[in-house]
Amino acid sequence: MSTRPNEAGKLPLPELHEMKERGDKIVMITAYDAPAARLADEAGVELILVGDTAAMVMLGHDSTVPVTLDEMIFLTKAVTRAARRPLVIGDMPFGTYEVSDEQAVSNAIRLVKEGGADVVKLEGAGRMLSRVRAIADSNIGVMGHVGLTPQSATKLGGFKAQGRSADAALKLYEDALALQDAGCFAVVLEAVPAPVAARVTEALDVPTIGIGAGAACDGQVLVWHDLLGLYQGRQPRFVKRYAEVADVIGAAVASYADDVRSGAFPEGKHTYSMPESELAAFEAALAEVRTAG
Ligand code: KIV
Repeated sequence: MSTRPNEAGKLPLPELHEMKERGDKIVMITAYDAPAARLADEAGVELILVGDTAAMVMLGHDSTVPVTLDEMIFLTKAVTRAARRPLVIGDMPFGTYEVSDEQAVSNAIRLVKEGGADVVKLEGAGRMLSRVRAIADSNIGVMGHVGLTPQSATKLGGFKAQGRSADAALKLYEDALALQDAGCFAVVLEAVPAPVAARVTEALDVPTIGIGAGAACDGQVLVWHDLLGLYQGRQPRFVKRYAEVADVIGAAVASYADDVRSGAFPEGKHTYSMPESELAAFEAALAEVRTAG
């Protein structure tokens, strides 16, 4: 069943809850620039996350930690210029919400006011519940994120699945419920055993969005570069590549280089002409300049 955009064309936030109630799956994808956002919008996704994965897939870092708020705002602006119907989620980078509720609220406001994000996302529960409450109380929608939280990958012992023991699964379940109680409109479950994600999804009124969390989640998210086969780095087991775009790009650039070197590009149709009379006048003027010189 298709979902209903509001008058401005933007998907209303409460529609996500209604989709969960109807059993309609929610489609979320990351994007970091205007062309990607336009394509995702045209494909009919509900949610676009300007994820801090930008640090790795766009900026060449080894983790999500180094990306700054200014960099995230720059990317979010590009996405929000092009995304009409999908809700755009601005991801709060590491170091922009951990210190205090005030820090979290003022940086969430920057993502919304300067970046144009509709809502924001942050990672973790525990002490972060207070941040979620503070941001939600400031009338900014917050998406939670538990399981593998890449900003704390070092503390978690690497990019590993989470909630794989009974104790860890129960903790994750309680964290997800606490995020809902704190005011999250949805919760991302990353790299979590499918049965655990299924129980969390049953227990929550708000939608769960899975990434490596099985098919029972209310929606799914994949990173743009993973889905398209554009990212050449570490590939988690939960990634499904729907295309091998890096191969297409690599072959196209190599053909271009061959054509430049052989003189096959540019052809006449790629260049501009001028009237014969103007060309003759130009040649005559040039001859005079050269003689005088
Ligand atoms: O930053 C990101 O892209 C994310 C998704 C993997 C959920 O947090």
